[in-house]
Amino acid sequence: MDDFIAGLPKAELHLHIEGTLEPELAFQLSEKNGIAIPFQSVDEMRAAYNFKDLQSFLDLYYASISVVLTEEDFHDLTMAYLKKAASQNVRHTEIFFDPQSHTDRNIPFETALNGITAALKQAQTELGISSHLILSFLRHLSEESAIQTLQQAIPFREQIIAVGLDSSELGHPPSKFVNVFAEARRQGFRVVCHAGEEGPPEYITEALDLLQAERIDHGVRCMEDAALVERLIEEQIPLTVCPLSNIRLCVFETMTEHSLKRMLDAGLVVSVNSDDPPYFGGYVNENFLAVQEAFDLSRDQLVKLARNSFESAFLTEEEKQKLI
Ligand code: ADE
Ligand code: ZN
Repeated sequence: MDDFIAGLPKAELHLHIEGTLEPELAFQLSEKNGIAIPFQSVDEMRAAYNFKDLQSFLDLYYASISVVLTEEDFHDLTMAYLKKAASQNVRHTEIFFDPQSHTDRNIPFETALNGITAALKQAQTELGISSHLILSFLRHLSEESAIQTLQQAIPFREQIIAVGLDSSELGHPPSKFVNVFAEARRQGFRVVCHAGEEGPPEYITEALDLLQAERIDHGVRCMEDAALVERLIEEQIPLTVCPLSNIRLCVFETMTEHSLKRMLDAGLVVSVNSDDPPYFGGYVNENFLAVQEAFDLSRDQLVKLARNSFESAFLTEEEKQKLI
């Protein structure tokens, strides 16, 4: 099954570029930029990837990105991920970036954006992998801060396909961001939203009704609300599920308890993604393998998950056909 999974053409739609920082690159950048990290070695850093919930992960995720400073750093971070993705037969990616985690440490918006987009272009040419970029607002910050970030993005409108919402979910419902998402839609951005990861099913409903999200990131807690599941099926709303992430952040205790198989069986448009791969112990193929083993998934079910990833992408039918 390893070879079958490795050979499947896939799209990855739920991936935070800041969350792709491997400890080896973190140490290199720490030395180059003279920014200390609180670990003695790569092994010690990896051993700290032991989380009790989303917040305990986010604390380390925001601290670790402090070593990424220059346009070249953002390029190298992005290129490293794209090489790994291409090696796993990922043919298309839709990548999140969190501009506020950089502008809040005085790195200009365009430094992050230019470094990332340079790598996306290079990977298209050199690796044949296509990409879109999604600007994600940090939900633990204010709506005013999100509005300022949206304004910074306007000159780069053509390089960013969508806006999203990530970071600490509980206590920061989609309703907090109604105005900024309305403005983003007016500006022509597509809309996605993290919801129903740690937060309740009501946050998924809010993301759909108040933000007009076209795709839900995680959404695994939708299974607690039968009417919501029916709606998600009826409206064919894609859900970008990240199985290893959910286990490492204790959303489910074990993979056999994960809702992915029940979601698939119910007819939801679910895909498999890696979220923040070094932190959670695997890229997209390792995520596929983990669910295949837990649920003894058939080849047809694996093909369905991979096809769903293209169906859920912000691509035209013609673009999808070329990639599959
Ligand atoms: N930022 C990076 N990974 C995240 C996740 N899994 N949930 C919310 N915000 C995130
Ligand atoms: Zn995420």
